[in-house]
Amino acid sequence: MIFAHRVAGLALVMAALTPAIAFADGKSLFLDNCSACHQPTGKGVPGAFPALAGSAFVQGDPKIVMTTVLNGRAGMPSFKDDLSDADLSAILTYVRSSWGNKAAAVKPADVAAARAAAKAVAKGRGLQAH
Ligand code: HEC
Repeated sequence: MIFAHRVAGLALVMAALTPAIAFADGKSLFLDNCSACHQPTGKGVPGAFPALAGSAFVQGDPKIVMTTVLNGRAGMPSFKDDLSDADLSAILTYVRSSWGNKAAAVKPADVAAARAAAKAVAKGRGLQAH
């Protein structure tokens, strides 16, 4: 019984700690990779870097958000070679749930699927061009 208690207690502690760790990870990865442009506040720089805070786009279809960050867009670099599925899912989960944003978390498996889909599209385009 004591053992069962310990196990239950440990599970509780882990459940309490896990979101905090994921949150911290996403935040520091965001600060390292994104905040130079989008700012630590997520508010961006008007006219140059769009705000992620309060953005309908950011809180919308996660597939489109993932593809945007994987492939880059206009003045934003591509991150597919720099960020792992786990890193990108932590960043996007942080971005979608910070500064008043309230969208669902993004899982590493979601990023892996978006990465594979983006690759397939690029390959299709390449074949068409030849
Ligand atoms: C070098 C500057 C720069 C960095 C670094 C950068 N971005 Fe961006 N980001 C931009 C610019 C510029 C745009 C607007 C692109 C356009 O006009 O289509 C943008 C657009 C976006 C959008 C789409 C916003 C919308 O409303 O359409 C998202 C989401 C985004 N960035 C997330 C990120 C994330 C997450 C990171 C870090 C992994 C990141 N960005 C790093 C410059 C940057």
